[in-house]
Amino acid sequence: MKTSRKSSASNPAAKSKKSIQNRVRLALGIVFLLVFSLLYYSFDIEPYQIRTEQVSVNMENARESLRIAVFSDTHLKKNYPAAALWNVVNALNAQHPDVVVFLGDLYDDYDNWHDDPAVIEALRAIQAPLGKLAVWGNRDYGGGAEKAYLSILDQSGFTLLQNSNWYIPVCSSHSVLFTGLDDAIFGHPFYPEETQVYDNSLKILLMHEPDQFADYTGYGTDLAAAGHTHGGQSLLIPASWRSRDLQSRFNKGMYEENGESLYVTSGIGTTHISARFLMPPSITIITAGLNCASSSSPSAS
Ligand SMILES: [Fe+2]
Repeated sequence: MKTSRKSSASNPAAKSKKSIQNRVRLALGIVFLLVFSLLYYSFDIEPYQIRTEQVSVNMENARESLRIAVFSDTHLKKNYPAAALWNVVNALNAQHPDVVVFLGDLYDDYDNWHDDPAVIEALRAIQAPLGKLAVWGNRDYGGGAEKAYLSILDQSGFTLLQNSNWYIPVCSSHSVLFTGLDDAIFGHPFYPEETQVYDNSLKILLMHEPDQFADYTGYGTDLAAAGHTHGGQSLLIPASWRSRDLQSRFNKGMYEENGESLYVTSGIGTTHISARFLMPPSITIITAGLNCASSSSPSAS
């Protein structure tokens, strides 16, 4: 045995083999650590770190402005409950918006998990002196959500726009118009006919799925806002690899279509895989300029 150990220790080939084995073990350890860190960050850190994005519209020569806070796709579920929603509420209230808009997909799967009283308590705490608006998302239909959605919003102080308009008078003869469309997958969206009758200093169009935007251009919309895509939930996953829900040529950010502008938010929650990587949840503050002849401030209708 003594002879054998001496022979092995002095053998260059055995030394080299042992060195390679150590390097492989080290490399595997580093890879394991990286993968574990990546998964931990993607599942447990980034989905709960809300960013605030800023967008402006119609600000040239504007004397007044309106702060519109947008959030979307909360996808509430067991691992993203009402307790997590309070982070969104606090982020929204910290921005002191005039109007708050929710672009749909409140629950991820109402049939499997819901907690209406706690959700209502959180949503009700969102403060917006000129109003809180919402539209339908595809997840707000089905599994019992369709019956609950309107009731939850109503008890939380939100007005649900379903192919309908909502106005804020801002000057003696002008108003800001919000038009909300029905969901494009399970609803029946159409542009409300009466919209053209009014003289509006600003037109905001709200919808859940951005892919329907082209069908609603030509109405003089200053800015359309949509959610649904979650920004793909990760920058690293190609669009073709994502679930159909997260595929869109309008992934996240500002787009132009037929000369009109569309803003797509990355939303709040997650679906299918409860992870985000380099695509954090976000709320968006739209600063909208009001070109009023007079200098009167926005006021609620
Ligand atoms: Fe969604």
